[in-house]
Amino acid sequence: MKLTPPPTPSLSQKIGAGRGAADPIRLSPLSQNWERSLSRSLASGEGERAIHAVTERSPPMSSQNHLTIPMDWESLDLSGLHGVLMVIGAMDSGKSTFARYLFGRLQRQEGSGRVAFLDGDPGQASLGPPATLTVSMMLPEGGAFPAGDDVCRYFIGSNSPRGHFLPMLVGAARLAQAAFDKGARLLVHDTSGFIDPAAGALALKRGEIELLQPTLLFTLQRQQELEPLLLPLRRSQRTRLVVIQPAPAVQARGLAARRGHRQESFSRYFRESLRLEVDWSRLAVWPSPRFSLNRLVAFEDRLGFTLGLGIVVGIDRPRTSVTLQTPLASLEGVSALRVGDLALDPQTFLEAKI
Ligand SMILES: Nc1ncnc2c1ncn2[C@@H]1O[C@H](COP(=O)(O)OP(=O)(O)OP(=O)(O)O)[C@@H](O)[C@H]1O
Ligand SMILES: [Mg+2]
Repeated sequence: MKLTPPPTPSLSQKIGAGRGAADPIRLSPLSQNWERSLSRSLASGEGERAIHAVTERSPPMSSQNHLTIPMDWESLDLSGLHGVLMVIGAMDSGKSTFARYLFGRLQRQEGSGRVAFLDGDPGQASLGPPATLTVSMMLPEGGAFPAGDDVCRYFIGSNSPRGHFLPMLVGAARLAQAAFDKGARLLVHDTSGFIDPAAGALALKRGEIELLQPTLLFTLQRQQELEPLLLPLRRSQRTRLVVIQPAPAVQARGLAARRGHRQESFSRYFRESLRLEVDWSRLAVWPSPRFSLNRLVAFEDRLGFTLGLGIVVGIDRPRTSVTLQTPLASLEGVSALRVGDLALDPQTFLEAKI
């Protein structure tokens, strides 16, 4: 059967593309491997129910906590979902706002501990310091990341996916698995706005979709900017696409505001930091002990998850010793250091690529 995208369809047509607008769509099951590995957390038979819009009204708005919630969002029927729900879109398309809205509704529906949120954007991270991905079962008020809360984190090594596709993929997959292992049956994956085909973004997005196998892919598209990705996806039938209109209230942030947000996040993260001297000959160092002043380094546990970040403030090579400014109180549980590709001024928290 040939699937064709509907021309500027109504919401219900969008969700049921290729079918009668009122017909339920069948959610594609996870792959057998994932089904096996997630069998503890995914109830069999679930996810076979419909997601459909219950209204085709043009979008009046309702307001909630300073957010404008388009009626299209509110009319989404989210019952019977399972697995990964991925939200994609360009920068400033409202991905994170929609993803948080989705998480809130699903959590009210499923109960706490059953829905996880994966912050998959190392640039404008919301649940952790920049250069990391974080998964959590709860979202802090106002989107500010919690310090020391019950989260699982993965170090990307940079504030951008560019040149860091492997950690982006490995991190997203490991964190999703960690959430399902912990009992989540749904995971909302908020992704980065990195969609430029010329920069290789299609390979990354496709990799994320292949690995995480979202049961639904929410797409926030203003014009045709996601089409290079969506066109093959529609034909491949690998996932269900749900078109969400970006809310008119979305505010674009310039590069300076984005940099400022990262600086503020790093500054908040390192506010309580101390100096920790580490003999690196006692730990695994990835990819090698290429320490340099101001370099960002992650302390990792045995499983490769990030316990904390540090900034290199001293190096004594003959003693294989590096001093890191970090909020981590001790090396307890640390089995490795991962050396990043970003420098951070330990006073101003201004960043520089290495
Ligand atoms: N429905 C809405 N109502 C009011 N404000 C909104 C809404 N959606 C988004 N915004 C505002 O627009 C800005 C950008 O939104 P958001 O962070 O969700 O976009 P994004 O696509 O995740 O951006 P980024 O590319 O940085 O990840 C934010 O300041 C957010 O508060
Ligand atoms: Mg975002």
